Amino acid sequence: MKEHSTKERATFGSKLGVIFASVGSAVGLGNIWRFPYETGQHGGAAFILIYIGCVLALGIPLVIVEFYLGRRSKANPVGAFLFLAPKTKWYLVGLMGVLSGIMIMGFYSVVSGWTCDYIYQSLTGSLSGKSPEMFQQDFTAFCTNPYKPILWTIIFMAVTHFIIVSGVKKGIERSSKIMMPLLFFIIIVMCVRSLTLPGGEKGLEFLFRPDFSKINSNVILGAMGQAFFSLSLGMGCLITYSSYFGANVNLPKTAITVGILDTLVATLAGIMIFPAVFSFGISPTQGPELVFITLPNVFQSMPLGYIWSLLFFILLGIAALTSAISLHEVTTAFVIEQYKLTRSSATLFVTITLVILGMICSLSLGVWSKFTIGGMNIFDLFDFISAKILLPLGGFWMSIFVGWVIPAKDLKSELTNKGTLKFYGFNIYRFILRYFAPIAIGLIFFNELGMLSFL
Ligand code: PHE
Repeated sequence: MKEHSTKERATFGSKLGVIFASVGSAVGLGNIWRFPYETGQHGGAAFILIYIGCVLALGIPLVIVEFYLGRRSKANPVGAFLFLAPKTKWYLVGLMGVLSGIMIMGFYSVVSGWTCDYIYQSLTGSLSGKSPEMFQQDFTAFCTNPYKPILWTIIFMAVTHFIIVSGVKKGIERSSKIMMPLLFFIIIVMCVRSLTLPGGEKGLEFLFRPDFSKINSNVILGAMGQAFFSLSLGMGCLITYSSYFGANVNLPKTAITVGILDTLVATLAGIMIFPAVFSFGISPTQGPELVFITLPNVFQSMPLGYIWSLLFFILLGIAALTSAISLHEVTTAFVIEQYKLTRSSATLFVTITLVILGMICSLSLGVWSKFTIGGMNIFDLFDFISAKILLPLGGFWMSIFVGWVIPAKDLKSELTNKGTLKFYGFNIYRFILRYFAPIAIGLIFFNELGMLSFL
């Protein structure tokens, strides 16, 4: 693999653009679709506490690692390692990241496609007047259908394609600046609505009163995987975005802002969903279908339900789109820089690849559902391998790389913008990278894979 030249590289135009784009990547289906059902399945508040612990102790330090790698090298994830450690095998970590991004996008584009269909159904009113069983049946019939979800996936990918082709400033930055404020506005309105429903307190209790007897190794791995997924961590997405950051961006501060806003949105999503779910007497433990079966059912029982349903699915669609563009951009930047393609041909190539993978994932829920590996269909397998294996593994190697291979002086200089900013506790930070993060990730990991049965 060749190192690429760093001249004439695109950058985000403003610090606000940096925040919106990075938060746009972090806040996605992970916060509004995955976080609530993972919380529901893993017992509520105790899971959330461990999740927050993972964000603070591992997530934010590793976001800073990726920011360092990206801005220091001004390159895609593979180029970053080639630049910082030429003639070594470290670039494989970047390559693994690109691969994880492609895998995530396989199922991400499908769920985003479902979201588009639910926006359409909310608009046409076909989500109301159904019994709970009908919601279940219709959703199952829809996602196992061989054509319809694929059509929506293609439409969603076409929008993503259009933004990516428009470039870093005009596409990614501009769309994030419009979509993210809208997202925050909608989610706050929806939370107020949910909190004013009678009987919603049980939902808040489920969210905020921990029952520690529910914690086991599965819950901990789930929380760590969720933290990585939600922060877009461990696969070079933040390396790619930070390669577009200007020299004056405060990297640690931006990482903390992204971590806080991402966790805030996940919590708000919980507040938006659980009181409503409990208020209508429905169990929160349903898996991935939570927002596609349970919620429409809840909405239709509310006054003006179709408006809430429309707002919710628009919210989910925006969240999905700003994250999908970041996933798409990782592979696109890699192809542009390592294979010297123009942005438009690279984008086309990546879009086509991702659409094909999306089709495979979508079909794996229907006509190909008999084909399983380790009991999982391809859709679930992609989710499992990427979130629970490749992302933590990527984070593991990146913390080792920056902690042990990169000289402390170089790291400090980049993180303090050549000494113009203060970084209190730099040594503690470096300790986290060298020892704490790799050991913590390793233990959680091996424990889950059953290799440390004594834990
Ligand atoms: N963070 C995104 C979400 O929460 C998903 C994502 C993962 C995006 C990895 C980019 C990279 O939905």
